[in-house]
Amino acid sequence: MILEALRYPIIQAPMAGGPSTLALALAVTNAGAMGFLATGYGRAETTRQEIRELRSNTDRPFGVNVFIPAADHFDEQAVDVYLQTLDSEARRYGVEVGEPRNEEDEWSSFFAVLVDERPPAVSFTFGCPAAQEIAELQAHGISVWVTVIDPAEAVFAHAAGVNALIVQGVEAGGHRGGFEDRLDGEDLALLPLLRLTAKACDLPLIAAGGIADGPGLAAVLSAGAAAAQIGTAFMLADEAATHPAHREALATSAATGLTRAFSGRQARGIVNRFQVDHADAPRAYPQIHYATSPLRAQARKLGDSDGFNLWAGQAHSLAKARPAAEIVEGIAAGAAAALEDATARVVGKGDG
Ligand SMILES: Cc1cc2nc3c(=O)[nH]c(=O)nc-3n(C[C@H](O)[C@H](O)[C@H](O)COP(=O)(O)O)c2cc1C
Repeated sequence: MILEALRYPIIQAPMAGGPSTLALALAVTNAGAMGFLATGYGRAETTRQEIRELRSNTDRPFGVNVFIPAADHFDEQAVDVYLQTLDSEARRYGVEVGEPRNEEDEWSSFFAVLVDERPPAVSFTFGCPAAQEIAELQAHGISVWVTVIDPAEAVFAHAAGVNALIVQGVEAGGHRGGFEDRLDGEDLALLPLLRLTAKACDLPLIAAGGIADGPGLAAVLSAGAAAAQIGTAFMLADEAATHPAHREALATSAATGLTRAFSGRQARGIVNRFQVDHADAPRAYPQIHYATSPLRAQARKLGDSDGFNLWAGQAHSLAKARPAAEIVEGIAAGAAAALEDATARVVGKGDG
């Protein structure tokens, strides 16, 4: 199993939309953890080139993350109403609201690239591929992982034949990566999610959400995770392409919250003006992502952190600005110390 071959049980979360870079994936991989390429919002042929470049620079295992295309059902009237509320943003930033379109369906192109290029692992987000597709990837030597946010999704992915599950707690930065954007589900925090999923199915579990230092890693390993997938703590890495205004916000203790304001799908970001002013955004992903895209681009250009998505996990203020390899080593060493300390406490102290 690929996870057992890693020097450190740390996976760098793929972070589409800015922070993820090839340099970050390479630095993390070469540090003995596992780097990931983010392909969300990207093109299959770019991914092919990135896989080749990564492979030519490392012989260690890395992964590629792919979004499952969105099903096209949403409330058009609610989207129209929402677009009208974006007019004031368009005036503020001097740009037009974008077209609320679906993405071009690149699924078959991505699938072909994966089969051709055979990255060591592929993780899927926003759904689970068909059992046949999973089997085909595995037949090409690829370890297939799926992101889940509740035990029912875990059981479904297990039955479809995946090799491992990324269990994402509600603490996590960025989009909720489950199959459907629901409001009626229970938003499970990582610890209960891990334990309930371990009870429901016997697969290696990769814990994601709010892990940003050694004790955090120690906690999920103790709770049965095979590894941790860490996003926010890598956003201040030298190799990440995180926007400077976003870096500044991460370094504060500002609150995070879930929002659909930017993309039409629930995601966790540092609460800013846009997030507060558009708290009523409906579910329509990726239509709202494309509608807000020009607004966000202009806000970024202006360095206005109140106008674009500041994705961040709940533990963002623990993130440190340093080279990615040092982040990996710092978290691993901190986890070893925390586990030793915890062990000493549970085995008792003689007669004391
Ligand atoms: C800026 C950002 C972008 C993200 N993009 C993706 C993505 O492209 N694919 C994905 O599976 N998860 C994505 N995530 C979620 C991560 O995979 C992971 O669940 C999350 O970062 C874990 O929580 P943490 O940020 O507290 O470490 C993203 C998270 C952040 C912070």
